[in-house]
Amino acid sequence: MEEQNQNKSSRRDFLKKSSLAGIGLSATFLSSCINAQAKEEKVETGVLNEMSKKLMSRFNLRYPLFQAAPGGEALATAVANAGGMGAISLTWSEPNDAYEMVVRLKEATQGNFYCNYVLHLGTRSLDRALEAGCPAVQFSWGIPTTEMVRKIRSAGASLGIQVSSRQNTLMAMDHSPDFLICQGIEAGGHVQGTSYVADVLAEVVEAAGEVPVLVAGGISTGHDMRNVLNKGAAGVVMGTRFVATRESDAHEQYKMRLVEAGEKSTVYTICFNRGWNAMHRVLRNNTFNVWEAHGCPLEGSKPGENDVVATHPAHGPIMRYSPASPFPEMTGNIDDMAMYAGEGVSRVKEILSASELIERIWVEFENK
Ligand SMILES: Cc1cc2nc3c(=O)[nH]c(=O)nc-3n(C[C@H](O)[C@H](O)[C@H](O)COP(=O)(O)O)c2cc1C
Repeated sequence: MEEQNQNKSSRRDFLKKSSLAGIGLSATFLSSCINAQAKEEKVETGVLNEMSKKLMSRFNLRYPLFQAAPGGEALATAVANAGGMGAISLTWSEPNDAYEMVVRLKEATQGNFYCNYVLHLGTRSLDRALEAGCPAVQFSWGIPTTEMVRKIRSAGASLGIQVSSRQNTLMAMDHSPDFLICQGIEAGGHVQGTSYVADVLAEVVEAAGEVPVLVAGGISTGHDMRNVLNKGAAGVVMGTRFVATRESDAHEQYKMRLVEAGEKSTVYTICFNRGWNAMHRVLRNNTFNVWEAHGCPLEGSKPGENDVVATHPAHGPIMRYSPASPFPEMTGNIDDMAMYAGEGVSRVKEILSASELIERIWVEFENK
């Protein structure tokens, strides 16, 4: 009987000891997991830096995320109302159209949008946009004159300038901009610089001092955003990713081609240079392939250069090699047109609404 009790107690002891050991073991295991997770989170979780916070508070944003110039008014409204910075491209707008668009956007948003001008193509609607109360003007492809900056400042608008090197950052800094956009060669559309973001961002951030720098080029996800914020950027500018949204004013076929595109789908080229002879990044398509197969000839010897590839009901025929991008009202061979896309296009997997996209990017950025 005593032996039986001893056995029972030793079994109890054993069970007690082993369960304690088990707890100990699982506690050690658990705490090492938690530590690993914490370590991982420390590296992986997106954290806003001071410059991001400065940018967001300056423009009353919930996210350090700007739309790039393309996409149109409905997209700009949706981005702004989802807490990002909306954008409209006014380079080609009639002055009165620009005025009305700015008035509508001011009514529809909290004023968190900017007007983009490709400086070397002209700023004919700038005065009217400022009269309408345009809250921020952003220039690409050039440094504004002192007179332009004076006008912008006296209208009470903010100023943004796109840069691509230390040298033009220092030139931009002479105008005390409110923000800078560092565009890399991975960007979709016309590409101002000749360096990848990774090669130029540090020197631009350094030259910009206390001015927030946003990155444009190849940003499609919150992971992309986290990557550049960790390298000193205050925020991101997304062009291609926003073109592939429900609200964007791009042709549906163009949006589909963006979703289908893979890692090797874009080319950095001078191919679509009719009327604007500047480097750009587009989806590789039939027009590009045939031109390349002919040895990339200059204007005057380009294959099919007198072809009309599509038609716009108001603006008429669109010739092969035209820099015009596909808008919804166009008909014809949309696939042969210039379908601008950045290198981040391979991470564009579906057409979302702007607010769904922004929410998703934020979740990916935080990685929680
Ligand atoms: C369809 C399209 C049109 C663009 N139009 C303009 C423009 O009018 N003005 C401008 O400064 N940049 C323009 N860009 C370039 C964007 O401002 C931005 O630098 C670029 O989209 C960022 O790269 P991502 O497309 O990889 O996001 C355009 C880009 C695309 C894709």
